[in-house]
Amino acid sequence: MKTLFAHRGMSSLAPENTLAAFSLTPEYGLNWVECDVDVLADGTVVLSHDETLDRCTDRPGSLYDLTVDDLDDIDAGSWFGDAFIGERIPTFAEFIELANKLKLNINVEIKSCTGGWAQTESLIDGVIEGLKKLDKDRDILISSFNVLALAEFKRRCPDTSVACLFGKETLEADWLAVLQACQADAIHVENKGLTKEMVLEMKDHGYAVNVYTVNHLARANQLFNWGVDGVFTDVGHTFPSRYRNV
Ligand code: G3P
Ligand code: CA
Repeated sequence: MKTLFAHRGMSSLAPENTLAAFSLTPEYGLNWVECDVDVLADGTVVLSHDETLDRCTDRPGSLYDLTVDDLDDIDAGSWFGDAFIGERIPTFAEFIELANKLKLNINVEIKSCTGGWAQTESLIDGVIEGLKKLDKDRDILISSFNVLALAEFKRRCPDTSVACLFGKETLEADWLAVLQACQADAIHVENKGLTKEMVLEMKDHGYAVNVYTVNHLARANQLFNWGVDGVFTDVGHTFPSRYRNV
């Protein structure tokens, strides 16, 4: 079975990385979601792709200046559509609760904190703590572009699957050594520039290969025919039923 990851939730139908975006996935037959996590000043882990509020909320500013009490006053939905006015930036704990309720499998991307290693450790601590509340029958995949953070997570949670993330520009010839050092189970690679030969080599080494972000059906089909295991998409609702659990 090929996997469709609802990238940041159903992010073309609802504001990305909000509970509204994740709540829509069962309706469209998707049972895997991808989310981005970062950490507030008080150690609260929240869902956000960016470290600033500027793109996806009603105000500018840094996530790193906030505490959990600030979240109630920040609107993360009105930029997307009137139906989402009042949508909040979710905490990781709220996300886990929703994943349990909707029986979602989760890919949690640990963002690369720009605040330093202590902050990164606080993020890892928060993710590990949050995952303890996830029902045991859910599947988990932790990923990061920050291989040091990923290796540290794996050191602390050796039984949890992890994936190294690479962009087109960061996928170097040493990718295999990086995956091995992280004890990774999967490689998450950018769609742009990815070739059949690259996919076959990754598969030859025994890794699951998941590709981001794939919003065109023909490209998804091509990738799956090359042996790719999953794609991250913003438009899961447009994929035919053969890819979905409906
Ligand atoms: O995890 C796949 C993909 O989400 C990585 O890129 O920038 O969308 O977080 P980005
Ligand atoms: Ca992501």
